[in-house]
Amino acid sequence: MKGIILAGGMGTRLFPLTKATNKHLLPVGLEPMIHHPIKQLVSAGIRDILVVTSTDHMGDVVRCLGSGAEFGCTLTYKVQESASGIADALALAEGFAGGSPICVLLGDNIFEYSIAPYALRFRKQTGGARVLLKEVGDPSRYGVAALDEKHVLEIEEKPAQPKSSFAVVGCYFYHCDVFDKIRTIAPSGRGEFEITTVNNLYIADGKLQFDICHGRWTDAGQFESLQEANSILFQNRNEILRWNPDDGTT
Ligand code: DAU
Repeated sequence: MKGIILAGGMGTRLFPLTKATNKHLLPVGLEPMIHHPIKQLVSAGIRDILVVTSTDHMGDVVRCLGSGAEFGCTLTYKVQESASGIADALALAEGFAGGSPICVLLGDNIFEYSIAPYALRFRKQTGGARVLLKEVGDPSRYGVAALDEKHVLEIEEKPAQPKSSFAVVGCYFYHCDVFDKIRTIAPSGRGEFEITTVNNLYIADGKLQFDICHGRWTDAGQFESLQEANSILFQNRNEILRWNPDDGTT
């Protein structure tokens, strides 16, 4: 499996912190934010990783991460010319993926525990996609999953009246058909190619599996959530905690 970190976008919700730099280079705990998704992928045994970022900050991102040797992985870089959405950024990864299954991490998502158990489950999945859900207090800020006991029935992006309190967090597993699906989608009302639209296509095919995310999770895209991200990673000295999915022990 290959890894893809999406670290483009404008970071406008963190302005003026992001006036002169990329959101993913801001400090979280003891390290730049973008170290976290790299360490997460490596913790799941994924060592061939593509980083997608914007033209403005590519130089700084490369200076920060280098070849990946420091993290025990190999890094490739790709520019997203305009912030046209998560699915648009992911489309740039088709050549890199080369037909392999992929794990996609949003560069501003912080997970207290390793994503390795979810990657293991996806490796056993013969096709389709897998997403992670987390119960949150403010679901309207996220993609929100309507669920029955076994299935995600529908995902709505930032709904005014959420059908559940389960956010779809920024860790997605796909087989290589994801790129064909992205080619069929249109931009949303806010002008972005949404990952939620892609995930709903998998639901329509009956091919979207899910896990509930263990431990603390946050995005770091707003001042309050950046503070929460700092608190999680500072407390753990930026170490990613391991856990056993069979009994929840650490
Ligand atoms: O954090 C989880 C949420 O992330 C999900 O629940 C939503 O379904 C998903 O749409 C996304 O929502 P946000 O509005 O928080 O996404 P944001 O625009 O902040 O972008 C998240 C990351 O994706 C960010 O770290 C940079 C990357 N990105 C974003 C855009 C719009 C790109 O690489 N390129 C882009 O064009």
